[in-house]
Amino acid sequence: MPDLKTTLHVDMLRRFRSNQASVLVRIARAVRKELAGQVYGLGWGDPENVEPLKFVRDRYVLPYVKAEQTALEIGPAGGRWTRYLLGFRKLYVVDYYAEVLEELKKTCNRPNMEFIKNGGADFPAVADRSIDYLFSFGAFVHMDVLIIDAYLANMKRILKPGANAIIHYSDKTKIMARRNDTFSENTPEIMRSMVRNAGYTIIEEDLTTMWHSSIIQFRL
Ligand SMILES: C[S@@+](CC[C@H](N)C(=O)[O-])C[C@H]1O[C@@H](n2cnc3c(N)ncnc32)[C@H](O)[C@@H]1O
Repeated sequence: MPDLKTTLHVDMLRRFRSNQASVLVRIARAVRKELAGQVYGLGWGDPENVEPLKFVRDRYVLPYVKAEQTALEIGPAGGRWTRYLLGFRKLYVVDYYAEVLEELKKTCNRPNMEFIKNGGADFPAVADRSIDYLFSFGAFVHMDVLIIDAYLANMKRILKPGANAIIHYSDKTKIMARRNDTFSENTPEIMRSMVRNAGYTIIEEDLTTMWHSSIIQFRL
């Protein structure tokens, strides 16, 4: 179960950068990299052309982007979703790994962005009640429920009343999550009760779009 000591994410980034593979693997990687436009993480699926991800983009991201509001993304990796959030007045990108934030800066670094290396579940330098929209995809799927619980508690400080929070998490009721050791032991039932116990109101649950995970939307 990945916890804060896990090397999973830095390992994935290093594998992405590694040139030590066989010629065939290197050729395949070069082709994929070319297709992925050099962005770390696009190899996991591009929301521009993978149907379920397109749906997530069109339902949970694009309708919420407002030029006068402030957003925060947790676990951006190479910016697969960050690029859709650039229309906010201010965008915080929060990650536990400084190395990952440096990678993001290579492809996505705008004056309205603030890069924050956190302690695993906190929001240093983010003002109280300052966030209108919080989004995280592909990060909570790997997080132990204790870390998720800590995040839910800490989000209460930074979210404005009525702000939308949208989190994609591991759903072990689905076989594709059960077959993936890097996915945490979470289910809609566990997630629902953690969100409610933290004091939020659930707005929407999407249990069908993703084949190994689910999405929950909630507000204070
Ligand atoms: C698999 S990547 C997914 C990234 C991106 N959102 C996407 O969908 O392409 C997981 C991301 O979560 C970050 N991460 C892992 N644990 C974290 C934690 N406790 N707090 C913040 N970010 C974390 C990783 O560094 C990485 O950026």
